[in-house]
Amino acid sequence: MVRKPRLALIGAGHMGMALASCWENQELLAKQGWLVIVDPAPSDRARGFAERLKIAIVPELDKEMAARIETVVLAVKPKLMAEVAKTLDQVLPQSALIVSVAAGLTLHRLKSYYGDRQLIRAMPNTPAAIGRGATVFVADANAHEDACARAHTLLAATGMAERVYEEKLLDAVTAVSGSGPAYVFLLAEALAVAGEAEGLDPVLARKLACETVAGAGELLRQRGCDPAQLRAEVTSVGGTTAAALDVLMGSGGFAEMMRRAVSSAARRSTQLGAQS
Ligand SMILES: NC(=O)c1ccc[n+]([C@@H]2O[C@H](COP(=O)([O-])OP(=O)(O)OC[C@H]3O[C@@H](n4cnc5c(N)ncnc54)[C@H](OP(=O)(O)O)[C@@H]3O)[C@@H](O)[C@H]2O)c1
Repeated sequence: MVRKPRLALIGAGHMGMALASCWENQELLAKQGWLVIVDPAPSDRARGFAERLKIAIVPELDKEMAARIETVVLAVKPKLMAEVAKTLDQVLPQSALIVSVAAGLTLHRLKSYYGDRQLIRAMPNTPAAIGRGATVFVADANAHEDACARAHTLLAATGMAERVYEEKLLDAVTAVSGSGPAYVFLLAEALAVAGEAEGLDPVLARKLACETVAGAGELLRQRGCDPAQLRAEVTSVGGTTAAALDVLMGSGGFAEMMRRAVSSAARRSTQLGAQS
């Protein structure tokens, strides 16, 4: 069967393939209009994916293919966006919705590339690769509600997806969920090192730390995301957890450090956005 794609994914790297594989799992591709992948040097994973689903993978969109495209998801590195836009802008229909997942690339910058087309800027995070991502997006005033709903469906295939209406909030989103997985990985690292310092074998300490972070995360999710309540449930007065929390929650402790870290990341996101 010859399929005529209405959805184009530009860039089949880490994030692009995370999106594409979630779309496959959610059987979205047939509903959203079959997919074409654009990547000049696709990885074996991307080629295998395209072969398995019998979809086209091309170095760039030609005019005929581009004319049918309703939604484009841009998943190339921010520094390549201008170059990619030069070709795309020439061939895409004016009505096409453009969804960018590039970190720090503002709607203003996207507008300078794609003019008055419908534009959406999204900020996903790495757990999208396993369908457990957290994404927030903002739409330009030109984007119609049905286009925003289409983008929401595509992004929500990778986990939770929420829309905000003020672009500047994406700096805070970047600082919390975009960079957030790294903070959690650091927590696991630090917990393992601390376990080792208490005499545990390094391999066992790492295993315990990783399983604890992963298990606690899953419990948090399954119990409705009230971290303070779950913490209280595992803390008895005068017990071992309370002894640790006295240190972590004391002056200059974990909460204060997290506040400073997130604030620093948000400021950096604002700076990078201004330079983009
Ligand atoms: N990875 C994440 O967790 C994450 C999280 C949030 C946002 N993002 C955003 O997602 C975007 C992609 O990041 P990534 O980590 O997936 O990068 P990546 O792994 O480098 O993927 C980008 C892909 O685009 C390809 N490409 C290069 N030039 C192209 C062109 N002209 N047309 C089509 N494809 C082209 C690259 O090929 P080559 O490798 O051959 O250059 C690569 O396969 C970035 O803008 C990033 O800010 C990523």
